[in-house]
Amino acid sequence: MELFLLELPKAELHLHLEGSVEPETLHELDPATSVEEFRALYQYADFDSFLRAFGAVGKRLRGPDDYALITRRLLENLARQNVHYAEIIVAAGVVLWKEQNFTPIFDAIAAAAAESPVQVRWILDAVRQFGPEHVMQVAEMAAERVDRGVIAFGIGGSEQRGPANWFGDAFSFARSAGLRLTAHAGESMGPESIWDALELGAERIGHGIAAARDEALMRHLRDRDIPLEICISSNLVTGVVARIEDHPVRRLYDAGVPIVLNSDDPAMFRCSLTGEYRLAASHFAFTQSELAGLAQNSFRYAFEREALP
Ligand code: HPA
Ligand code: ZN
Repeated sequence: MELFLLELPKAELHLHLEGSVEPETLHELDPATSVEEFRALYQYADFDSFLRAFGAVGKRLRGPDDYALITRRLLENLARQNVHYAEIIVAAGVVLWKEQNFTPIFDAIAAAAAESPVQVRWILDAVRQFGPEHVMQVAEMAAERVDRGVIAFGIGGSEQRGPANWFGDAFSFARSAGLRLTAHAGESMGPESIWDALELGAERIGHGIAAARDEALMRHLRDRDIPLEICISSNLVTGVVARIEDHPVRRLYDAGVPIVLNSDDPAMFRCSLTGEYRLAASHFAFTQSELAGLAQNSFRYAFEREALP
């Protein structure tokens, strides 16, 4: 099984660049803070404390060189796992919040990606709780870079503190600029949050695990062929799912909802894409042929039509 999973050509569709930074790398960037202190930052009492830690990691990244370094490290890791294609989410909203210039940062990560064997596309992501003007600004930053590998626009952060209905204008604008659309939804809130994201035009849903509580929504996702970007370890570590046996991945799959496995924030959740496939096998009885189907889904539901295993 281990060799099978490693050799399976895979794509990552839900992977945050800033969530891929290992404590050792943070220590390299700031030698005055020990690796142990950074490891302690990666412990979360609840979902909001994870979001604060994610913001704190972003704050540590000082500029283009730091972003280039973390991109190279992430892509090396993906190549070792036989990941052929990745849509990497960049917290452009956090760059805005830090009042750093995004242009040289994007140039640096794009240059780092150009040197990797992994095919990369970018998803620029805004912070829901920062409000509609912030989210529109990120949509504009994404629109300016559609010809440079930015394939989609998305929203993350707190569903509670940033309801989807604030963002209709930003999503319409992004769509008209040629961007594909995704939204984190139904992660820490219920099915209505997913319905609201679909109303915005989201073509994939980040997490979306709450769909398992709504039969009509599962039928809708199945019939419209809208995939959920499932991240099992993430949900356990942030506490939105209490125990692994409570995770709805199998129920969603059996209901015919399209799913793709992803790592979300691999360093912050101490997981890997290959490990997510391993969990699906060990805890949810996915067979090798089902896992091969999920790996095919990871290419099929890529926003890039040219994404090939
Ligand atoms: N959910 C919301 N915001 C995030 C996440 C997530 O899984 N990862 C990084 N920012
Ligand atoms: Zn995420």
